[in-house]
Order: sequence, then C-alpha cells, then structure tokens
Amino acid sequence: MRYSNLKVATEQVNFKQAVLRGLGREQGLFFPDEIPQLENIEALLKLDFIPRSVAILKPFVEDVLTENVLEGMLIRAFNFPLPMVQIDADNDINALELFHGPSLAFKDFGARFLAECFAQFSPESTASETPLTILTATSGDTGAAVAHAFLGQKNIRAVIIYPKGKITKLQEKLFCTLGENIHTIAIDDDFDSCQQLVKEAFSDPAIRHPLNLNSANSINMARLLAQVCYYFEAAAQLGYAKAKTTVFSVPSGNFGNATAGMIAHCMGLPFKRLIAATNENDTVPRFLAQGLWDPRKTVATLTNAMDISLPNNFVRIQQLAATRPELFEQQMFSVKISETETLAAVKTLYQQGYLADPHSALAYAGLIKDRKQRGNAAETAVFACTAHPAKFRESLQDTLKIEVELPSELAEVANRKILSVQLDSQYSSLKQYLLALD
Ligand SMILES: Cc1ncc(COP(=O)(O)O)c(C=O)c1O
Repeated sequence: MRYSNLKVATEQVNFKQAVLRGLGREQGLFFPDEIPQLENIEALLKLDFIPRSVAILKPFVEDVLTENVLEGMLIRAFNFPLPMVQIDADNDINALELFHGPSLAFKDFGARFLAECFAQFSPESTASETPLTILTATSGDTGAAVAHAFLGQKNIRAVIIYPKGKITKLQEKLFCTLGENIHTIAIDDDFDSCQQLVKEAFSDPAIRHPLNLNSANSINMARLLAQVCYYFEAAAQLGYAKAKTTVFSVPSGNFGNATAGMIAHCMGLPFKRLIAATNENDTVPRFLAQGLWDPRKTVATLTNAMDISLPNNFVRIQQLAATRPELFEQQMFSVKISETETLAAVKTLYQQGYLADPHSALAYAGLIKDRKQRGNAAETAVFACTAHPAKFRESLQDTLKIEVELPSELAEVANRKILSVQLDSQYSSLKQYLLALD
C-alpha cells in the first residue's frame, strides 16, 4: 500500500516509512492512496477479534509485514478485553468500553500497536547509539497510553508534553510518575499549542535527525489503523444484520477516532451513520453546518481531552470524503454538546446504572441529541466509552455526589510524585530541553 503526504503529494511512502517518519514534509499527514475493500463482511464478523483484525490490517501493511508477524504484533498489542454493555434495552443503546487496557483509555489500542511497529521497523535504531525519541503531545490520555506502551523499552525514550493544569490529577499521575525512559513536560498553554510544538520540532532539522525523532500522536498512521479494528468488533458483537442499522457516536477532539470509524465504513463495514460529538470546542460541527473553517480560542471544559480547536485528523476525513462524498453527506455528522448537556448525560446514565466518564457521557448525549433531531427514530446505537470513569473521579464525585473507587492501576500511582518539568510554550524552550536530553 502506498501512503501519500496530504500536503506534498510527491512524498510517497510505504507503511514502514509512514510509521517511521510520523509526519511528512511541510507538516503533512500521510494517508493511504486507496482504502481497501474487504470481501464478505458477514463472514469476517464471525471471526475472533485477532484473526479478524489481521484480515482488516493486512492490506495496509502487507508489503512490509508478513501475516504471521502482524498476527504476533496484534496478539501482544490487543491483550485486554473489549466488552460492549447494553445500557438501555428498550432503546437499544450500548456502550462500547474501549478502556480496559493498561492506561484505562481507548488510546491503548493505537499506542500499543505503534510500539509493536517501532519494535519491528527500527531494530537498527534500537541497537544504535542514538535512541529513538518519541515526541508526543497529549490532551490527557495519549500520554499515559504511550508511556505505558514504551516504558522500559531499550533505546527508546518518550517525551510527552501536555497543557499544564488542563488534565486531571489522576491522568497526570498515570504517566508523569514513571521516570526511566519517560520524560514529561507541562507546557504553560493549551493542547493546540502543545500539538504545534510537536509539529515545529518535526520541521526542525536540528532536532529531527539528531534526535531520531518520531511521534506517537494520531499524526502517525499506525495509531489510526489500530483503531479501525474495534469498530468491526462492535459490529461483530451486534451481529451483521443489526450492525447495518447501527448508529455510532464518538467523543471527538482530534478526530482520530472518528477518522478510524469512517475508514472502517469505507472498507465495507456497514453502519447507518457516525456522529462525531464535540464539546464547546466546535470547529468541526460549525464547519459542517456553515462551510467555514473558523477555529476559535480553545476553551477549557469537563471533557478536557477534547479541548482542541485545530483537530489534526480532520484533513484525513476530508480526504476520505473527497473520494466517497455520498458516504459523508449521508452518514457522517458532527454535533456540539454543551457542558450542561454533558453533565445531564452523566446523571442520566448513572440513573440507568452506568457510571460513564464525561467524554463517554458526551458521546451518549450526542446520540440522544441526534435521535431527537430525527424525531426519535428507533435505532440500535453504540457510543464509544473512551476512558475509565475513575480517571475523572473528581468531576464525577462532584456531579453525582458519590465515592468513585480507584482501580488498581490508578491506586498504585495516586500518591506518587509528579516528575514533570515545566516550560513555557516557546519552541526555543522545548528545543533547548530536547537538545539537553541524555
Ligand atoms: C477520553 C478521550 N475521549 C475522547 C478523545 C478524543 O478522541 P480523538 O482525539 O480521537 O477525537 C480523547 C483524546 O484525547 C480522549 O482522551
């Protein structure tokens, strides 16, 4: 499969090069030249998760990875459960729980697959003098997934930057207390600014090559492809006939999750529509409604991991939409959910016996809003639960007046010291820090 840089079309690479370069020239993202069509989806859905995921990913990687190697990578990467829980039997609403990996968020799928890719593709660099430096911006959950996927790996160091004070204490504890090859930096600005710093470092030859720089953000195609697999799993758990009439709702910030869903759809996975629900940072819903790309200053919300006004992956969605306009006009929508609506959704779900983190609750609110706008059509629905509720313990305790217990992964780190350094949002400060790394 050939991947092209969406900004510099002449930069064409294979999967291995796309993974190792992370970001293309002029900060362009790589994207497959064509989306493979899968045959006999009904039979595919009957396979188990790993063999099915091998079949889904194979056409994207087969020129650089054998089927056996790919299978081994997926067995190691996807080594945690992926349950779907029925929340409301009358209205057929289901929660797809993507947070059972080591960092308790859906990011474990992408980060763990990416770590497997690096282990396959850069044995030279892992054996050489210069370690691979994985530079990643996080709005809360990517950092932990990346830190846990790369912790202790030989000749790889992860540098994770995040907006200071804009992620929850427990999110911070999960990746900023590890030490070893995990370096964390609190930036005195918002996530968009962290994301921009990563892009600047990639464009800086004084950093990129000497540091053997790579990224674990959803800039990297490997992360997105891993996420395609769980849409098929949701459909498998529903069954082919039901899947065809199912509506998915995903909480969206950088639009990686939504992109993965639309890739799955373009590959042949049937569903009725996908709703990308955002918080008050609603660049995309406004763009889809008015045709004007008008990002505003990012505002802080309860769903902090989605406080993003410049969603990186939206250009990939536009690329897909250009080739399949009918799919996008009729089957992808984006809605904005206010803070009040998110809080109401947390409460409604709790009354129904389900404790959801605010991001997952926002996806549920997106579903309900969309359903109402369509006159409450009876449809099977799946909302993506992207983080374990305990990661957002403070806000859930405030909203619901309950005690939220910590799972062992969080209890272990809750009292550890934060090891992060603090920097302003000037690129020169980050550059100085990176050049001084051992
Ligand atoms: C818990 C949670 N939900 C949703 C999102 C948004 O996902 P995406 O950036 O793929 O749109 C994130 C991203 O950081 C997240 O951590």
